[in-house]
Amino acid sequence: MKVFSGVQPSGILTIGNYLGAIRHFVRLQDSAECLFCIVDLHALTVPRDPEDLRRDTRTVANLYMACGLRPERSILFAQSHVHEHAELSWLMGCLARLGELRRMTQFKDKSHGAQEDVAGFGLFAYPVLMAADILLYKASHVPVGDDQRQHLELTRDLAQRFNARFGETFPVPEAMIAGVGARIMGLDDPTRKMSKSEPNPGHYISLLDPPEAIRDKVKRAVTDSGRDVRLDWEGKPAVSNLLEIFSLIADEPVPSLEARYGRQGYARFKRELGEALVAGLAPIQARFAELVADPSYTDRVLREGAERARVQAVPTLNEVKERMGLLGAR
Ligand code: AMP
Ligand code: TRP
Repeated sequence: MKVFSGVQPSGILTIGNYLGAIRHFVRLQDSAECLFCIVDLHALTVPRDPEDLRRDTRTVANLYMACGLRPERSILFAQSHVHEHAELSWLMGCLARLGELRRMTQFKDKSHGAQEDVAGFGLFAYPVLMAADILLYKASHVPVGDDQRQHLELTRDLAQRFNARFGETFPVPEAMIAGVGARIMGLDDPTRKMSKSEPNPGHYISLLDPPEAIRDKVKRAVTDSGRDVRLDWEGKPAVSNLLEIFSLIADEPVPSLEARYGRQGYARFKRELGEALVAGLAPIQARFAELVADPSYTDRVLREGAERARVQAVPTLNEVKERMGLLGAR
């Protein structure tokens, strides 16, 4: 089993990123060979201030480690440090079809339904680069949140298409999408996925929010009519989302939370959820503070990670070029 996943360096990471993805990375690193990437090239698909992007790339590296990823165990690196990603992306792009890229819902959402002649090409080509990320390491498993399901399907299609045309080369990678936590919803609107790009900070909880902000955001989170705390995604989407978050962060089954808070109204439930989040994020925040104090350590981890990643990336890229008919340089 070989695991690959990535997170975009876009400022903050939310508890959605943690509960839907990074928590699983941490668990997997003990049983599988793992690569975890900070996909800085993907971040360029929307306009970014250069200094912010550099800072955010280090922040995600530090958050990876603060959440429990160990550089001695997993390969942690920045996508742009391994230029083979961009190169394989071109080669895979020659197999991808306009129609299948146009159907990607993330492209449709992020281009805000803009006319195609003004939507960015990077945004359009985004899933091809993501496929290249995964295939470059011949990864067999890709832990992601539910929103990446469609991109993984495209990756599988491209792998199969390549194998059919040029001979068996890539394992067809499987998405690992958890049953619970793969889609944490916004605190202000349980019909929308929690996302760090939302302008209203009350929408999400950042892994680096101070305790007061966490308590306040949970207090203000929308709830449903009635007063009973129970899991019912149809009838009580807001409370169900909070219950799911509570269960994951406190590592306590939902039925046990329902038994404790069921008929007591929302106030105590929300107060104790706030405390559970503060307690759950405290060790991450403490470790993060240590890591930020020493940027040279972070840079060294990324440099060494990229070297180790390239050892795997180069042979795959050479194999692909050879199979596609490019003349070897030596
Ligand atoms: P991104 O921030 O878009 O780079 O996402 C990084 C990882 O976090 C991906 O695997 C996403 O699917 C996952 N993720 C992002 N938002 C959520 C959410 N609200 N709930 C669960 N997983 C999420
Ligand atoms: N597209 C993913 C996201 O926005 C990030 C990503 C890029 C990724 N390359 C990847 C995830 C490869 C898994 C594997 O969340």
